[in-house]
Amino acid sequence: MRTPFIAGNWKMNLDRTGAVALSKAIAQATLPEGVEVGICPPTVYLGDCLAETDGSPVGVGGQDMHFEPNGAFTGETSGDMLVDIGCRYVILGHSERRQFFGETDASVNKKLMVALEKGLIPIVCVGELLEQREAGQTQQVVQEQVEGSLAGLTPEQVAQIVIAYEPVWAIGTGKVATPEQAEEVHADLRSLLESRYNTESSSKVRIQYGGSVKPGNAEELLAQPNIDGALVGGASLQAESFLAIIEAAQATR
Ligand code: PGA
Repeated sequence: MRTPFIAGNWKMNLDRTGAVALSKAIAQATLPEGVEVGICPPTVYLGDCLAETDGSPVGVGGQDMHFEPNGAFTGETSGDMLVDIGCRYVILGHSERRQFFGETDASVNKKLMVALEKGLIPIVCVGELLEQREAGQTQQVVQEQVEGSLAGLTPEQVAQIVIAYEPVWAIGTGKVATPEQAEEVHADLRSLLESRYNTESSSKVRIQYGGSVKPGNAEELLAQPNIDGALVGGASLQAESFLAIIEAAQATR
């Protein structure tokens, strides 16, 4: 049985007061049993959010990291630094990183190796563009991203990662994939992992759905057998909607 995992990706949003208030509200809420909860604030507010969530079950994560431990990489944050301040997670290969910052499967792969070595739980994002879906290429695109990003991992390492399937056309657009569309990709992904690694590892990997997840659509998505949580952008910026999605995850267990 996979523990559902709801993670909030705050992206480049909120100010310090807002980040502190939001992390405090989530940490102090009565969270349902059996759902893992994480928040990924902007890097400069990680310390504040870690302080607010200290002692609560809420984990904190970075939105990206560099694969080198330190050095002349202006503007970057290393996995060691995330671990040093107490982060539990790191998002890797988000479509916005791929689209605007030149992230590739090869760079995600390097980061993923380091994240696992450092004990961070990586959330590896994959997903197709609208034109790729319309051209019937979804399965192929997502498969290539997974194979490239996970290259060289052992079955034991694969079992530890989280994959977020986020159709790019559904991110921040209000256009959510139907539960059937999402489940189809999630089931394909799990079979791919089973064929490349083994049944034990593939059955342990949590595959989150992401893309316009809201309280109103979360339950039907999370009820799908291969959807093990959600990576939530817009709706994670308010405690009320984020907590409602966490409740929905519990309701489908
Ligand atoms: P959204 O973002 O929920 O605002 O669509 C999801 C994401 O980009 O992770």
